[in-house]
Amino acid sequence: MSDTAGSFDLERVRRDTFVRSIDYHASLDSTNDRAVELIAQGQADYPALVLTVRQTRGRGRGTNHWWSTDGSLTFSVVVDAHELRFPVGKLPMVSLATGLAVCSALTPCLTAPELALKWPNDVYLRGRKLCGILAEVPSSTAGKVVIGIGINVNNSFAGAPEDVRVRATSLHDVLGRTTDLNGVLIETLRQLDVHLRTLARNPETIRSRWSEYCLLTGRAVCLQIGPREEMGICRGIDEEGAIVLEQGEGRARFLTGVVARFD
Ligand code: BTN
Repeated sequence: MSDTAGSFDLERVRRDTFVRSIDYHASLDSTNDRAVELIAQGQADYPALVLTVRQTRGRGRGTNHWWSTDGSLTFSVVVDAHELRFPVGKLPMVSLATGLAVCSALTPCLTAPELALKWPNDVYLRGRKLCGILAEVPSSTAGKVVIGIGINVNNSFAGAPEDVRVRATSLHDVLGRTTDLNGVLIETLRQLDVHLRTLARNPETIRSRWSEYCLLTGRAVCLQIGPREEMGICRGIDEEGAIVLEQGEGRARFLTGVVARFD
């Protein structure tokens, strides 16, 4: 018998992807928060998937919220960094590799190379945010990384507040039709497996791709780092996942910060 939950076929997810355990909820505050709880309980097999149909208090970077409505895909994957041999201390690289995995998973749905990475943790489609990624290493855990992914698939921003509508988009809003949510989940997990392994074993292959996909290259960027602002023309993303800005006196690299504005 098929193990279905909402639009999800959990049996297929287990069979066709690298996840070894699934924690499914019809509704959940935040899949990242639930993932941290699961790690603390120490009972999950890794990689573990935390999946919900409806996420009510999704978290973004810093104090940001993740706005999701019916039809969006929200999940977190907990990976054991030691097992996958990827650099646990280099979260920007994990976010970027995850962004590339999402781009690879969605490319078959789109007709042109319309997807781009907005450093360090967003995927953009036709200039608007399609996907947000929140990679975290909970302080209490040894070598576990939580990778939270929100993809706007079948939700629509047509009725969203103006400030959200001008910045975000969904596959539905661009394609004008619904997409198989289960298929997007499975392909994203498969690509995540491939990209995390590549990051661990053959990182140069993946590093060249994140510069190729960089939305900000050649654009004027204002980077907010705490109370400080750094302005410059983006010259891509370096091998450690840092954004490179050309400033009057030369180039500087930044591993943290929020892109407050770009032209
Ligand atoms: C951002 O835009 O700053 C990142 C948004 C990340 C949202 C995803 S949705 C699934 C997972 N659970 C959360 O609470 N957040 C992430």
